[in-house]
Amino acid sequence: MILITRTLSSPLRGKLHPPGDKSISHRAVILASLAEGESRITGLLGAEDVKATANACRQVGAHIRTSDGVTMVQGTGQTGLQQPSRALDMGNSGTAMRLLAGVLSAQPFDSVLIGDESLSRRPMRRIIEPLTHMGAKIEATPAGTAPLRIQGNPALQGIDYHLPVASAQIKSCLLLAGLYAKGSTCVSESQQSRDHTEKMLPVFGVPLESPCCVQGGSKLTAANVRVPADISSAAFFLVAAAMIPGSELLLCDVGVNTTRDGILRVLHAMGADVRIRNRRLFGQEPVADIRVRYSKGLKGVDIPACWVPSLIDELPAIMVLAVTASGTTRIRGAAELRVKESDRLAVMSTGLACLGVRVNEIEDGIDIMGGATQGGEVDGAPPLLPYPTLHVEAAGHDYQPVEGGDAHAHRQGAPVGDTRDQDLGPAEVEKVVGGEDHDMDHGRDQGPHPQRLVEPGQRLRLDQLAEELRADQQTPDGGRGEQGEGGNP
Ligand code: S3P
Repeated sequence: MILITRTLSSPLRGKLHPPGDKSISHRAVILASLAEGESRITGLLGAEDVKATANACRQVGAHIRTSDGVTMVQGTGQTGLQQPSRALDMGNSGTAMRLLAGVLSAQPFDSVLIGDESLSRRPMRRIIEPLTHMGAKIEATPAGTAPLRIQGNPALQGIDYHLPVASAQIKSCLLLAGLYAKGSTCVSESQQSRDHTEKMLPVFGVPLESPCCVQGGSKLTAANVRVPADISSAAFFLVAAAMIPGSELLLCDVGVNTTRDGILRVLHAMGADVRIRNRRLFGQEPVADIRVRYSKGLKGVDIPACWVPSLIDELPAIMVLAVTASGTTRIRGAAELRVKESDRLAVMSTGLACLGVRVNEIEDGIDIMGGATQGGEVDGAPPLLPYPTLHVEAAGHDYQPVEGGDAHAHRQGAPVGDTRDQDLGPAEVEKVVGGEDHDMDHGRDQGPHPQRLVEPGQRLRLDQLAEELRADQQTPDGGRGEQGEGGNP
């Protein structure tokens, strides 16, 4: 793996629209594919994971096309899916595999779900067991992993199921299977996992009987979906801006669903200068604009198990921020991080230790001792989520470039959005989660501060950032597009 560096000669300043929410994008494509009629989706994430879902939906009969940031999906209707002619490749996406397994278990045809090497190591018994109780027939490897050979059974029975781990993927898998089952399917959980499926089903005409209960045989009708920007992508910018002196970013249209907003609570608890404004709904999903500034004097925090589901994907970024905070940050109840695309606890703990950070990794969490770090090399970690996180960490320190790069991911000296006076006045600004209102200029350091950003394979994201910042400078409205991140899945 080659680490590519880009030198940031200024703080991060500007306004951007992070890419579309991945979880919501998967669900929008799947529900639209099952619906009667043509659905319109804007802001869909154009990443490989969502492409895997879209390609699988095409293989079972949906028509999906994207142009100018708008995705049109002609659904098959719930009972109109067709047998795929070959295995459905879910690539790297656990969400694609688990959610589609729920749908495919209930079909009058067989199917095979495959994935890449990482996905083929991830646990699938967590969906196979409850689906089997519903009457599904699924064969996996002896280790309970993909490939999944699904012998479709259109006569599934509804189930009452209590999740053994907080997992929106298991919950959504069962709710989707439940749409086809006899009777009702109800899922309960001791810790609330993300609820995008529950929020989106009514948009497609399927009311939930209780918070997490569907009636078999409910029909989906086409709908319009506007996908919020992904708080998981925003997390990297929130962290980078909070730790790089002089930074100020405005992140627009970010999903702030309460089952996903744990990072905002953590930032607030650490003392970061983060504010949200302009709260509104995209369909049933809450969104807001988030303004973050460089924040001096961050404090380490305890992140208890009950917070984890609401920030599970943001934990690597939070671990990086913890490095710059004073005191220890303790994360507990995060064993699920070990069964993501990589073992994110191990990758982060090894990577941070390589950078001279004092860490203590335990089975379900990590302690990170904040303070100064020294430069170092991170080697051999998988090219998955923790990598950009470690780059952000590098951004706060003066790392030597591994390979030369230009400095286009910044916008020197520009104010954060020309609308700031109008939109970010004290009356409109809301503190993230409780707490007293901060002095707007608290902890700012506007002096020049050279930074280096280590960037392995994240060229697209940084280029996108640069594009958005440039567009922001050029357009009269401060660059705020309708839906900036249409994909082409
Ligand atoms: C997701 C749920 C979470 C999350 C994953 C996406 C989803 O996984 O980590 O990135 O879209 O439902 P679990 O449901 O396994 O916790």
